[in-house]
Amino acid sequence: MARPRVLSGVQPTGCLHLGNWLGAIRNWVDLQASHDTFFCVVDLHAITVPHNPEQLAEDTLSTAALYLACGIDPNQSTVFVQSHVAAHSELCWLLNCVTPLNWLERMIQFKEKAVKQGDQVSVGLLDYPVLMAADILLYGADLVPVGEDQKQHLELARDIAQQRINSRFGSKDAAGEEIPVLKVPQPMILKEGARVMSLTDGANKMSKSDPNEGSRITLLDPPELITKKIKRAKTDPTMGLEFGNPERPEADNLLGLYALLSGKGRQSALAECGAMGWGTFKPLLAEAAVEALRPVQERYRDLRSDPGHLQAVLKDGQIKATEAANATLSAVRQALGFLPAA
Ligand code: ADP
Ligand code: TRP
Repeated sequence: MARPRVLSGVQPTGCLHLGNWLGAIRNWVDLQASHDTFFCVVDLHAITVPHNPEQLAEDTLSTAALYLACGIDPNQSTVFVQSHVAAHSELCWLLNCVTPLNWLERMIQFKEKAVKQGDQVSVGLLDYPVLMAADILLYGADLVPVGEDQKQHLELARDIAQQRINSRFGSKDAAGEEIPVLKVPQPMILKEGARVMSLTDGANKMSKSDPNEGSRITLLDPPELITKKIKRAKTDPTMGLEFGNPERPEADNLLGLYALLSGKGRQSALAECGAMGWGTFKPLLAEAAVEALRPVQERYRDLRSDPGHLQAVLKDGQIKATEAANATLSAVRQALGFLPAA
């Protein structure tokens, strides 16, 4: 039997951080051995908010290199750049024309990001989840490993596939069963790490777009900077660390980070640090973060010193992804009734 298909992606909008790693990419790495995995750098999504054209290509390359540095293996996975496969834009248009506007207007991430753009909100920002649906549906993904914040976008992709394409344009077999045009995907959200919070505010998620760099640890931060950011991270006046106390989101977040980064797990992290003061705990957490990132940073430096290799990986990924994507795109074009090109 064919292995279940997985697709996911991250925007090249700056350096990946611990939230991206622990909430998403860590999961991708584990899936490679048992699944048919596709991972893309979603550069078309990166221009839905104002972007710097001098930075886009570099951020795209560095994001791809970080995928590999985190353990994505191009011999097991298809790694590619979204804009290198034209089918993403084309399927997005086809899906746009069957997606109700009000489905997009209620997306939480759109509302949050739109506030920051004032009267400059682009149509692309509103349309972002339809492009994401196209990314997923093109590959017939069974599973989409993402952080918690993407759950609503996954629901939308499922609704578009099922209610707007399959039930309207799917055909029936001899027994009257619907033959779906598109596979309806499932979200895959980790229990631990699905929501890493900001270092400066335990009520907000760690994010690339937070203007305060002290709020996140990026995967390429040097050891001294990691230590400094953790030293400055927000704390509270209570002694000891604990999970699950709604009045102490920072304690929950930092102890959770320690559990993941040290590899010790939540129970032993709690046993070890439950009675510690912040002053004892923070250097321990800093050391765990530095040690966890050290091999990633070493591999990243090696990858960037050999640009030909990275380019070849992305070219190979483009070829494989294009083949899979074009097959789905043709099926959708046909279901929608387009005249085939001669
Ligand atoms: P950001 O929101 O920082 O710009 P992206 O939107 O590019 O990051 O997200 C890439 C992936 O990382 C997605 O799967 C997303 O769910 C996950 N992710 C982003 N931020 C976090 C976080 N703070 N905690 C856990 N997962 C996260
Ligand atoms: N919207 C996702 C995010 O911000 C990125 C993304 C775009 C994605 N297309 C995707 C994730 C397809 C999974 C599958 O994180």
